[in-house]
Amino acid sequence: MKVCIVGASGKLGRYMIGHCLDRGYEVVGVCRQQSVGKLQDFEGRIEIIPGRTDDRDVIQRAVVDCDGVLTVLVPWGVHGYASGTAQAALDHARPDARLVFSCGWHITRDGQDTYPLSIRLLVPIFGGLARLFRFADLKDQVEACNRIFASERLWTVVRGSDLEEGDSEGMPVWSRHVGDPVLKRNRTRRRDFALFMVEALTDPELVHEAPAISGKA
Ligand SMILES: NC(=O)c1ccc[n+]([C@@H]2O[C@H](COP(=O)([O-])OP(=O)(O)OC[C@H]3O[C@@H](n4cnc5c(N)ncnc54)[C@H](OP(=O)(O)O)[C@@H]3O)[C@@H](O)[C@H]2O)c1
Repeated sequence: MKVCIVGASGKLGRYMIGHCLDRGYEVVGVCRQQSVGKLQDFEGRIEIIPGRTDDRDVIQRAVVDCDGVLTVLVPWGVHGYASGTAQAALDHARPDARLVFSCGWHITRDGQDTYPLSIRLLVPIFGGLARLFRFADLKDQVEACNRIFASERLWTVVRGSDLEEGDSEGMPVWSRHVGDPVLKRNRTRRRDFALFMVEALTDPELVHEAPAISGKA
C-alpha cells in the first residue's frame, strides 16, 4: 500500500508517518519547504515532496500512484488554504484511492451535533479574532469539509476532540454525532488520532462517514 500524507511535518502528520511505516506502507509526504527539516527522523524511509498543500501541481505529483491519501486540514491564513488543499486531493487522487481528512469536532455534517460550551464559545470567539487578525479562517475549513461531504470519492472526515500528547491509549471511540455519551471525555491522544486516521484507510465501514472521535472515558 502506498500512502500520501498531506501536511506530513505537523505533529499529527509525523505520528501518521510512524503508524504507516509500522504497517510496512510506502509513504510520500507533502509539507511546506521550510518544514522539510522536521522530517529528518524519517530520512531515507519516506519520499518528501516539498510544497504548499494547496498547490495543485504538488498534490497531483504526490498522490498520482497512491492507494490512500491522509490529509491534515488546517485553517491557517485567509486565502482558502484548507479548501484548496481538500479540493486538490479530491481532484487528483486516483478514483479508487481512500481519502481520509482530519478536522475538529466543530465541523458538522448534518447539524445534528450537540456541542459543549467550550466549542460553542471557541468557534465565534477564536473564529472572529482569527479572521480579524487574518491568521486563520475557520469558515474555510467548513467549506473544505462541505466540498468533501458533497463528493462521491471514497472519503472519511475524522473529527478530533481536544488533543493531548502522551502514550497510546488504543483506538479512540467514535460516534456520528458530538453529544453522544460515548464521547464524553472529549480528549484524544494525538498519537491515537493518527492511529484512527491510518486505520480508516482500510476500514470500509468508515467510507462516507464523519466520525467524531475521543479517547475512551
Ligand atoms: N489542535 C487541536 O486542539 C485540535 C483539536 C481537534 C482537531 N484538530 C485537528 O487536528 C489536525 C492537526 O492539528 P494540530 O493542531 O495537531 O496541528 P499539527 O498536527 O501540528 O499540524 C499543523 C499543520 O499546519 C501546518 N501549518 C502551520 N502553520 C501554517 C501556515 N501558516 N500555513 C500553512 N500551514 C501551516 C503545519 O505545517 P508545517 O509543519 O509546515 O508548519 C502542519 O501541517 C487538524 O486537522 C486540526 O483541525 C486539532
